[in-house]
Amino acid sequence: MVLIDGKETAMEIKQEIAEEVKQMIARGEKQPHLAAILVGHDGGSETYVAHKVKACAECGFKSTLLRFEDDVTEEELLNAIDGLNHDADVDGFIVQLPLPRHIDEQKVIEAIDYKKDVDGFHPINVGRMSIGLPCFRSATPQGILTLLERYGIETSGKHCVVLGRSNIVGKPVAQMLLQKDNPGNCTVTVCHSATEDLPRQCRRADILIAAIGQPGFVKANMVKKGVVVIDVGTTRLPSTTTKSGFKLHGDVDFDEVAPMCSFITPVPGGVGPMTICSLMKNTLLAAQHKVYK
Ligand code: GUN
Repeated sequence: MVLIDGKETAMEIKQEIAEEVKQMIARGEKQPHLAAILVGHDGGSETYVAHKVKACAECGFKSTLLRFEDDVTEEELLNAIDGLNHDADVDGFIVQLPLPRHIDEQKVIEAIDYKKDVDGFHPINVGRMSIGLPCFRSATPQGILTLLERYGIETSGKHCVVLGRSNIVGKPVAQMLLQKDNPGNCTVTVCHSATEDLPRQCRRADILIAAIGQPGFVKANMVKKGVVVIDVGTTRLPSTTTKSGFKLHGDVDFDEVAPMCSFITPVPGGVGPMTICSLMKNTLLAAQHKVYK
């Protein structure tokens, strides 16, 4: 069994990006600039955004964090987005999700200029991705594909089972692995809350991607021997053994499932760090005008 080290892989990629940024600056080009909008004080969102700001520094990017309180109005948020859309110094930006309930998340996503949508959530980017056109691909699915590629895991002709149909992970990763591309060219099954006999579907997987947000959901009797398991779960549960008072839990019962696997990602240190490094890669591409002119 090979443990897929997302932390190490992300570090390598961030170093590659930093090298490229050095060369851009030596050529007199502009420093890439990522902005982030954070609403409220959700612990998970605070942590993710702090990691994104830190990753910008590691890559040699400029970063700007715009903070709003929970009671921000939709109009104020849309105005901030309009400002970033028109700020020539900002190459790309994200609005950290989830947003408070009184704000229409989809309206916010669609207000972002798709040419600066480095999260790849705008319907133009989602649509272009699904038909294989150049676009910003959303960060978590892209991070998963990068891990499969860097670990030399064959995907062509393999049966990939995706657990979960979220717009952020399940649907896009299924679309990406379906593309006639490498990584890709998979036969893809997407399972969800209404799927019948889920364990049987999971046992058919050569590659199992778990993205349902239920800690320890995937058990040993749900996988076949030699499976590649990608665990996207990041449920924060209280813990007395960590400094933060929280511990991240994946969707896979690691101790039970790992002995069955050819490859498996840990939580933390698997997909999580790759999400951030895919966002950095998208920001670099935005600054270089390599996706949209
Ligand atoms: N919330 C959970 N994952 C993400 C992500 O990839 N981007 C944003 N903006 N919010 C998230």
